[in-house]
Amino acid sequence: MEHTVTTLNRPDQDFDIKLRPSRFADFTGQEKIKERLELFVQAAKARSDVLDHALLSGPPGLGKTTLAYIIAESMGANIKCTSGPVIDKPGDLAGLLTGLERGDVLFIDEIHRMQKSVEEYLYSAMEDFVIDIVIDQGPNARSVRLNIQPFTLIGATTRSGLLSAPMRSRFGLVNRLDYYDAATLKTIIERSARILNVDIEPGGALEIARRSRGTPRIANNLLRRARDYAQIKADNIITADVAAKALALLEIDESGLDEMDKRILQTMIEKFAGGPVGLSSLSVSVGEEADTIEEVYEPYLIQEGFIKRTPQGRVVLPRGFDLFGLKPGDAQQNLL
Ligand SMILES: Nc1ncnc2c1ncn2[C@@H]1O[C@H](COP(=O)(O)OP(=O)(O)OP(=O)(O)O)[C@@H](O)[C@H]1O
Ligand SMILES: [Mg+2]
Repeated sequence: MEHTVTTLNRPDQDFDIKLRPSRFADFTGQEKIKERLELFVQAAKARSDVLDHALLSGPPGLGKTTLAYIIAESMGANIKCTSGPVIDKPGDLAGLLTGLERGDVLFIDEIHRMQKSVEEYLYSAMEDFVIDIVIDQGPNARSVRLNIQPFTLIGATTRSGLLSAPMRSRFGLVNRLDYYDAATLKTIIERSARILNVDIEPGGALEIARRSRGTPRIANNLLRRARDYAQIKADNIITADVAAKALALLEIDESGLDEMDKRILQTMIEKFAGGPVGLSSLSVSVGEEADTIEEVYEPYLIQEGFIKRTPQGRVVLPRGFDLFGLKPGDAQQNLL
């Protein structure tokens, strides 16, 4: 029978897959992590060994899932993907684990959201490649030990602070991804543009890079928006000027900050005179969990010099005041 395949406008997901690098060589930035992982992959392969368990942590969109796939690919291993909240019974985990072949990669996204009862089963699986499951109930209940094939667990988390200590200590390779600088993002944008057949000038790529909040996923999304704009308004070429206009139309901030970043800064200035303010007071004021602020928002604000941490609490730096057309003294005066 013949099929007709119609390709409609591709949604974000397909776009993401197309742009996702599948080899270390195409993964730009995070040089230390890449070097380390490549080395361990090579060593394990040379010994025909199974790669040690690896944890990848860091804010959203920096490449954790991408790296997990690259690791599996370069080990020549199959990868099975799941996520912490999805495995809700120890039995689900047992099913996954017993289905693994030697050397397979089990990727668990959002591993910090795994239930305690499930997590405990994972410990013996990671350490000794066995799981003890209880079958039957009441007087007939008994524990059965199942052997599983040696495998590599790759865990990803945006909130490494929420990961239990026993869990963390079972990973041989622990890597924290950092925000990308503009020059690295520019390279990523130029690669994506080539894949998408988009004409972009270096200045255009840099303009998008500067406003991508240090995040490749955001950079790729903004590239796509700029492409749309260039297509309709600018002969299909993304120059610096075209990029700036496209991003202005989208109300993407000059600094690349998002709504929550700005809310945090504004709250610190207006309610706490620029600080010092404790994490928990800040959390109540902006209505966001303290550890999300600490692990998802603050790292970027600190890296970019908008705020700093002091023993007394968080303090807004001149660049943070600048964003609202203020100077450090202004906030103090308002309070008087
Ligand atoms: N170093 C990189 N080089 C090129 N592209 C990258 C890189 N890192 C990420 N990307 C791109 O950004 C997109 C998002 O990356 P990925 O899905 O791996 O992020 P993540 O860290 O898993 O995010 P989340 O925490 O939201 O799951 C990918 O589809 C990929 O196209
Ligand atoms: Mg991911």
